[in-house]
Amino acid sequence: MKQARESKISSTSSLYPEFLVKIINKKLQDYLQSYNKLPGILKESISYSIQNGGKRFRPVLCMVTAGSLGGRVDIALPTACAIELIHTYSLIHDDLPSIDNDDYRRGKATCHRVFGEDIAILTGDALFAESFNLILEHQYCKPGKKIELIKEIAKASGAEGMVAGQIVDVFYTGKKITKKILEYMHENKTGKLIIAAVRCGAIIADASGGLLEKLTLYGKNIGLAFQITDDLLDLESSIESAGKTTGKDIILCKNTYPSMYGIEKSRKIAEEKINESINIVKSLDIESEWLVKIAKFLLKRNK
Ligand code: IPE
Ligand code: IPE
Ligand code: MG
Ligand code: MG
Ligand code: MG
Repeated sequence: MKQARESKISSTSSLYPEFLVKIINKKLQDYLQSYNKLPGILKESISYSIQNGGKRFRPVLCMVTAGSLGGRVDIALPTACAIELIHTYSLIHDDLPSIDNDDYRRGKATCHRVFGEDIAILTGDALFAESFNLILEHQYCKPGKKIELIKEIAKASGAEGMVAGQIVDVFYTGKKITKKILEYMHENKTGKLIIAAVRCGAIIADASGGLLEKLTLYGKNIGLAFQITDDLLDLESSIESAGKTTGKDIILCKNTYPSMYGIEKSRKIAEEKINESINIVKSLDIESEWLVKIAKFLLKRNK
């Protein structure tokens, strides 16, 4: 099974805009270099956690969404990078011994393994706040729109978003949950930031209210599918290919789609969500090509 999934790597390449990953990586590097007044160890831990290894899925999605509405994809680059900072913070904290206790991330040792727990917690804190700073300082748009973007990201990552999902995750680890709570957990811990990436791209490109709602639905479907495929990767992928510890969800008694529905049904649910997301964007009067490809990519990804 592992071999079969690993052989799919090349077939996914055309479904994912690697050219945007390069642009995002370069911009993140530029932002990092512009930080001069921070303690050296913090600069090191931020660089270590941000650089390379990640798929940059959320920033890619943000930029592709802006582009799908006829704008230049790079108009959304600063906000796209800001969302990646939030995501990176969430990974650093997710890996901590008190949460998932993971040693590998993005093909190397986790932040706390290299710098210690104290520095890792503070690195996450710094990235969270710097995300908003980045929009304020670098996103080119009217002040009112900056507030809108910050609100989207704050709501998606806060007490009614990612943190809510993560709380449910840790609270119910080792306990039985309902399908409804599982869906809530996935939609919040992972789905909300993915929805925010889509919505921010759309807001930057001046989407109308109706279009924004449809794109939100697209984000909701791929957001849930993203976490279901993450759960599947934990079971089916290897540490080398995923770049992070796999096989841990069972050991930790995590509630996942495969633990609730089994592997085949979970894949089927992910496929349904992806098909639904594709139908939504295809029905819109936008350039949906990359939004469709990115959705398809999720079913084929091996990291
Ligand atoms: C992993 O996210 C954590 C989840 C929300 C499932 P990604 O799979 O996007 O991780 P990177 O950024 O590519 O490393
Ligand atoms: C993490 O979910 C969701 C976050 C908000 C970071 P997981 O715990 O399943 O992510 P991985 O598998 O460690 O990347
Ligand atoms: Mg977790
Ligand atoms: Mg984890
Ligand atoms: Mg996982």
